[in-house]
Amino acid sequence: MRYSDELIEEVRSKNDILDVVGNYVHLQKRGNTYFGLCPFHNEKTASFSVTPSKQMYYCFGCQKGGNVFTFLQEYENYSFQEALTVLAEKAGITLPEADSSAAEKARDTLRKRMLEVNKEAARYYAYALRSPQGEPGYKYLTGRGLSDDTLMKFGLGFANISSDDLVKYLRSKGYEDQLLIDSGLASFDEKHGLHDKFWNRVMYPIQDANHRVIGFGGRVMGDAKPKYLNSQETLVFNKSRNLYGLNLARSSRTDYFILCEGYMDVIAMHQAGFNMAVASLGTAFTEGQATLIRRFVRRVYLAYDSDGAGVNATLKAISILKNMDMPCRIISMEPYKDADEFIRNLGHDEFQKRIDDAMDSFFFELKIMERDYDLKDPGSRSDFADALALKLCEFEDEIRRENYLISVADKYQIAADQLRRSVIAKAAKGIKTRYEEPKSGIQNTMTTEALILKKQRYLITWLSEEPEIYPIVKKYIEPSDFTDPLYAEVARQLYADMDAGRISPAAIITTFDDEQDQSRVAELFNTTLVLDADTEKGQALHDIIYMVKKNAVEVRSASDAMDAEAITRQMNDKKALEELRKTTINL
Ligand code: CTP
Ligand code: MN
Repeated sequence: MRYSDELIEEVRSKNDILDVVGNYVHLQKRGNTYFGLCPFHNEKTASFSVTPSKQMYYCFGCQKGGNVFTFLQEYENYSFQEALTVLAEKAGITLPEADSSAAEKARDTLRKRMLEVNKEAARYYAYALRSPQGEPGYKYLTGRGLSDDTLMKFGLGFANISSDDLVKYLRSKGYEDQLLIDSGLASFDEKHGLHDKFWNRVMYPIQDANHRVIGFGGRVMGDAKPKYLNSQETLVFNKSRNLYGLNLARSSRTDYFILCEGYMDVIAMHQAGFNMAVASLGTAFTEGQATLIRRFVRRVYLAYDSDGAGVNATLKAISILKNMDMPCRIISMEPYKDADEFIRNLGHDEFQKRIDDAMDSFFFELKIMERDYDLKDPGSRSDFADALALKLCEFEDEIRRENYLISVADKYQIAADQLRRSVIAKAAKGIKTRYEEPKSGIQNTMTTEALILKKQRYLITWLSEEPEIYPIVKKYIEPSDFTDPLYAEVARQLYADMDAGRISPAAIITTFDDEQDQSRVAELFNTTLVLDADTEKGQALHDIIYMVKKNAVEVRSASDAMDAEAITRQMNDKKALEELRKTTINL
């Protein structure tokens, strides 16, 4: 069940956007707007804006925007419900209990119980590690070089050889059987009844960013298979949205994380002082994890295994990070298999050197690509140069592309001019294929449409900033004259608000559920059109109104059936348009 619109609006209006966003982004005042570095994409100059008068944020770089709810949903990965709860609490508003459904409440309770029972199990395993029965586990872990301090820090433990002692213990604490099964701590079968899922293994509790135990990994102490047994995904354990070690790495105070594959790698790195290490959870690195990382740092070092599987995983991770505009570098583990082995053999200083010498991800990709060519053979060498040029096209930013081009040319002994020509030729081809349409001039109409949409956005921004122009705009432009359905809906709401003598762009945002739509609404309220210095304001408003109206009339007539009624309407439209053209607007 949903909360009432009034309540949602009360929570929103009692949380100032500047306070909320200011907790995450350093903002500086420029006129009526505050600017800072965008938390949603990588940038060096501030294009992220917060406008208190609109109670809205908007990034001119990545076009993300919204109100206080959207911000927390985007930044903290909160659901709308979670964002609402947090902000209500901040504002001292009690949300009525009755409004959340029985099913939601049950899930909430189950989630809490699962976290509780996980914590209890982790305590039990840790206690067992230090008991006489836990000696094999303790010996195994310390034998791999882990100190007592490290065991403690990661909450490592031991699951006994006995197959139901955890079940017995948790039952004695009042946890019901179904909960033990649902949380992945126990399994049930006809023959053995309810029994522990993990036994005779060293145990790695997996914690979320807030130190809550959400699952477990258990390792055999020898070479038996499977090497690791992991909790299945549960209500509290989402493998693609959590990272091992993040609870500690988040306070490392570095501006990068080291991403690796294994629990042991994370632990070894932390013990050696590299407390910015995190690992995915026995599954491939995901976009969700990249988003999670980006909440804390802007750069990533990859420290995957040096074998073939590790290289493939590295290439995949590079591509995911690149898509999210997060630069990364690759740490070489050679001649060792992984970070744990490397550190055990060569120690802290050598590992630090490897970090300092880590390879830019672009060059790493080239190094792997190079393997498919024989650079001594002139034909193969030319093919490689071609492939290089194509790869360089991936850089959208010209300066970056040129910088990489120069160092690539230098590295592979190719004339920079030649490589540049090849890149330009390929880029041009790429553009042509992207825009190849039967009719010439299509590009023109495309830009005209983009332009007219921009004018429509600007009109809405202008209205929200200077409501005094509303009577003039309303006289000529109806909400349905905005040709994008989302624009038309926003206009409809804005008109209704203005008729009622109020204006609240941030409240309009809340009426859209989809985060992408919310960003588009924010864009509507944050579009600036650069006017020539000598253009008079009234003239500018007139021109925009005229262009928007003209376009609306054209669009409508194009879709009209050619009956008598439509023809009359079109003639009227034309007349009105002609009159509008001759009108002067004075501001
Ligand atoms: N993994 C798993 N199940 C397996 C093997 C591996 O879930 N059967 C996951 C674990 O999360 C493990 C990671 O993949 O940490 C990397 O595997 P691997 O490199 O084999 O393990 P290490 O962490 O290096 O473990 P160890 O050094 O103890 O062998
Ligand atoms: Mn290992």
